[in-house]
Amino acid sequence: MSENYYARLTAKYPNQDAISLPNDKTNGVKLSKTKFSMVDENTIKYLRKNFTDEIEIIDEEEYNKFQNNFIEKKEIKITKVDAIDELPGVGVATAEKLRAAGFDNFMSIAVSSPGEMVNVAGVTEATARKIINAARNKLDMGFETGEELLKKRESVTKISTGSQNLNAMLGGGVETGAITEVYGAYGSGKTSIAHQIAINVQLPKEKGGADGIAVWIDSEGTIRPEYLVKLAVAQGLDSKEALKNFRGVRSFNSDHQMLLTENIENLIKDGLPIKLVIIDSLMGHFRSDFSGRGMLADRQQKLNKHLHVLLKLATQYNIAIYVTNQVMAKPDTFFGDPTEAIGGHVLHHASTYRVYLRRGKKGTRVAKLVDAPAMPESESVFQVTEEGIKDV
Ligand SMILES: Nc1ncnc2c1ncn2[C@@H]1O[C@H](COP(=O)(O)OP(=O)(O)OP(=O)(O)O)[C@@H](O)[C@H]1O
Ligand SMILES: [Mg+2]
Repeated sequence: MSENYYARLTAKYPNQDAISLPNDKTNGVKLSKTKFSMVDENTIKYLRKNFTDEIEIIDEEEYNKFQNNFIEKKEIKITKVDAIDELPGVGVATAEKLRAAGFDNFMSIAVSSPGEMVNVAGVTEATARKIINAARNKLDMGFETGEELLKKRESVTKISTGSQNLNAMLGGGVETGAITEVYGAYGSGKTSIAHQIAINVQLPKEKGGADGIAVWIDSEGTIRPEYLVKLAVAQGLDSKEALKNFRGVRSFNSDHQMLLTENIENLIKDGLPIKLVIIDSLMGHFRSDFSGRGMLADRQQKLNKHLHVLLKLATQYNIAIYVTNQVMAKPDTFFGDPTEAIGGHVLHHASTYRVYLRRGKKGTRVAKLVDAPAMPESESVFQVTEEGIKDV
């Protein structure tokens, strides 16, 4: 056999994105779902004996075709990695430190803070400011005309919630490039809406989607793949495909939640078309990790850093951020609904859209738009069903 052969895992390979083949029976290569690895005759025999459609084997010709596609994509990606060493104050060593920390394009530097630059690159504050300003100039991040801003808004997508009433209240749906905070008591529908948009995001834009996938950071252990399947079928999607186009991860404490969030940018750079990030719930871990009055300042500072990462993801990659939040009763309220979201001003200010959910009559749910840019307070009613979020 003269020609080379290559193999990789297909999407049908369960649970893992990469495996190492046993050394004794094969050439011990690592097979992944993204790239092809060269395999020898023994390995092919081993693969054919032990796998069916979880493995794909191609010959040289097919491999070259694949590579060309891959290179094209990579070249596109490379053009995105800016020549940050052109920036004044950025020598080889600094550039290396910046890239290692993920600051490999002008935008990530331009939206960073001098403090971050000093920490990451070890430069003086003055140099940090110089680097950041230079990156902003490269991106021409100066004042924009209203027209330019309006044009930018055109790239915003609204992900349907499944309920036309709720969509209308939100100005069309859950918006990309923004943080939508949904808070309410237990059973008010926060996680059910999360399931619905995690499926709807996969729909084409003209059907209320964003042609993308959702990443769900789950602090409560409430992701229900079986419910996702029902919702996908109800939307006319292939449920297997829909599950494949979904990424969920359980977070165990606030540090872990923050780490997972920071890692989302790498998933994007690996080519995942992420258009929605769900954090359910945002404050659960912060509340338990920072219990007691004395720790509030630390909690808020950390929360602020976390929200900063989320806002950067939203603006830099035009992603919708959907966070759920718990409530508490305001002790000094004597009239009206004493319920208030936790998280304090740090969160209130970071959320672009704030929605309060409560139970309504006959098993319905009532959503109240509490805060939104240029939109009046309003309410809408919806219901949670086996097929998803529906109008009443
Ligand atoms: N598949 C379903 N079909 C019908 N009703 C459902 C379904 N799933 C959940 N519900 C109802 O919807 C309500 C909302 O549940 P959901 O899990 O969204 O609440 P939540 O706001 O996330 O609550 P928590 O704060 O406890 O996380 C539940 O009370 C439940 O009765
Ligand atoms: Mg929930």
